Amino acid sequence: MILAAGSPAVRAEPARQEHLPRILVLATGGTIAGTASARSAIAYNAGGVLGEQLVASVPGLDQLAVIKAEQVSNIGSQDMNSQVWTQLAKRIKQAFDRNEADGVVITHGTDTMEETAFFLDNVLDVSKPVVLVGAMRPSSAVSADGPGNLYEAVEVAASEKSRNRGVLVVMNDTIHTARVVTKTNTTSVQTFLDPNDGPAGLVDPASIHYFMPAAPRHKLALALPSAGLPRVEIVYAHADMDADQIEAAVHDHAKGIVLAGVGDGNASQAALGALEDAARHGIVVVRSSRVGGGLVNRNVEVSDDKAGFVVSYDLNPQKARLLTQLLIGNGITTPANVQQAFDDAY
Ligand code: SIN
Repeated sequence: MILAAGSPAVRAEPARQEHLPRILVLATGGTIAGTASARSAIAYNAGGVLGEQLVASVPGLDQLAVIKAEQVSNIGSQDMNSQVWTQLAKRIKQAFDRNEADGVVITHGTDTMEETAFFLDNVLDVSKPVVLVGAMRPSSAVSADGPGNLYEAVEVAASEKSRNRGVLVVMNDTIHTARVVTKTNTTSVQTFLDPNDGPAGLVDPASIHYFMPAAPRHKLALALPSAGLPRVEIVYAHADMDADQIEAAVHDHAKGIVLAGVGDGNASQAALGALEDAARHGIVVVRSSRVGGGLVNRNVEVSDDKAGFVVSYDLNPQKARLLTQLLIGNGITTPANVQQAFDDAY
């Protein structure tokens, strides 16, 4: 049964509806809401189809849940931003506090889906399922993957098995956790992988299987920063690197710099020297890696204790940036305390 935002429930089949979970779909845009000519998979607008239309277009959803769709934004996720994140976090908290929903599904572009998932995972302290879903092909493409993904996302969000698992991503029959999931391919429908941990589970239209039992997680209690998220820059390391990117970030009043380092989070002597200077001036410097898998540990190739750096362990640069923003926004700014928070979150 599909309800538009704010519409009264029409109880077409009261006996069957009563036991169905209530799922709130928050639509933000992305390719899942994009349209193109049926022969084109590339020239399309991300965003364009409304959440209600998306939900109404998936056969069988009404057998899974009573669904209410709300439009939060209608943007390609390259334009996702902290205002929309804050709106999503507040609406989800409100919906659960008021017992309006048993689970939430967020439709989202795939490009920055992992960042939205990770942000929400850090600021929401909820046991009910929150699931992000998207598509690699627009809704009007041949073999559009959005409808199947949305069906399975609702299935996952409606399941008791999905409680106490943090924020999840469902794409292409696979369930991922916000911390480990990352986009790895520009076009493949199997773009989301979990480099350091593997997927959380598998889903198909008939079943959900998690590989590990749900467990209450040790979580940092990070508040939504009332003054917004502070400026934290990602600096991408490469061969023949000078200090220019780092000096530009300092000049632009960055409160933090995340190094997308080569290998084990390393960079040239010139770059490391400029980062050490930045740390000395109170800028939070976090070493992550551009490699895409493995851990960045303390004091292995770089003397973090001496330089005043923090390491990100398994967090990729975009997630390390978000955690750094949230920590600074919560008043956690010394290298020791920021490192402790990265340790605690790990
Ligand atoms: C976007 O991230 O909004 C565009 C790409 C996609 O959704 O796959």
